[in-house]
Amino acid sequence: MTRIFSGIKPTGHLTLGNYLGALRRWVEVDQYQADALFSVVDLHALTMEHEPARVLRLSRQAATLMMAAGLDPEQCTVFVQSHVDEHARLSYLLECTATDGELRRMIQYKEKGARAQAAGASVRVSLLTYPVLMAADILAYGTDEVPVGDDQTQHVELTRDLAVRFNQRYGHTFTVPKATHPPVAARVMDLQDPTSKMGKSQESGAGIVYLLDDADVVRKKIMRAVTDSGREVEYDRESRPGIANLLDMLAACTSGNPNELAGAYDSYGALKKDTAEAVVELLKPVRERHAGLAADPGYVDDVLRKGAERARGLARPRVDAAYRAIGLLPA
Ligand code: TYM
Repeated sequence: MTRIFSGIKPTGHLTLGNYLGALRRWVEVDQYQADALFSVVDLHALTMEHEPARVLRLSRQAATLMMAAGLDPEQCTVFVQSHVDEHARLSYLLECTATDGELRRMIQYKEKGARAQAAGASVRVSLLTYPVLMAADILAYGTDEVPVGDDQTQHVELTRDLAVRFNQRYGHTFTVPKATHPPVAARVMDLQDPTSKMGKSQESGAGIVYLLDDADVVRKKIMRAVTDSGREVEYDRESRPGIANLLDMLAACTSGNPNELAGAYDSYGALKKDTAEAVVELLKPVRERHAGLAADPGYVDDVLRKGAERARGLARPRVDAAYRAIGLLPA
């Protein structure tokens, strides 16, 4: 059976980008078609300046939202990365496989490193090694497919390179995974700056739709989305990034095609209104289920505990095999 692994890092409240780019597909397709594991990858939230209490709160919230969105513990494994030691164990072996040069080429390292420096903060070593830990997350489970948004493509490519290199040097140990992306909305853009990604760690919330935003807040944010000065509704990501972003969102919410939808509108206002309503409808059940689950943290903890147990059992033999293959004396 196909093995799927994916994760969300608890660095902020989950966004519509996380939902359309990743979570929604995990819920609607992946959990039913594969042996799928989904993780709150909390160790990844420590690579930039962080507040411990906030990370803890956001980890629980992310897990709760993943279930509220529809991940069913009977269908898939939901767990927290730091509950399974194998991720960190394997990460070190992969650090001994990766090179400094290839990690420094990672776009996210360059962008986030520059942001940290601009803010006068030092750059943590873990920001550089982050994609290696991500590779460990994936490779520990013999993963075939990694359903992610567009922004993770480079990291999954690195994961493939490390798997191939390790296998060539030390004998076949890892499955070489591939990234999969949704047909539309693989990169949802910020509503106030449609040339940059809608990201949960962004400073301002005005361009970001959070999954837990009230319906009226969602409407307001979408109605105020920055568009260009043209009038015709055309799907062109280069010259009309704001409009293309709205069309992508609407298409993703209605299972439509952004090009065809463009032809159905003769004003930006009407497009914004329909997009806002479609997003509100899409998120409504998630918000409602979240409220129910948040009132029962014991249930969520129980799911996470069982999920970690299963994940540990799956990861340990492969990580142990990697330890032996690389030349470490068995305990
Ligand atoms: P993270 O936490 O930033 O995002 C979680 C998932 O949401 C997708 N996503 C988006 N998709 C479309 N448009 C957007 N604006 C948008 N913003 C986020 C991401 O592509 C991702 O699929 N490094 C990963 C977390 C991770 C991981 C892993 C993922 C750690 N280990 C192993 C897969 C497998 C990250 O930062 O995702």
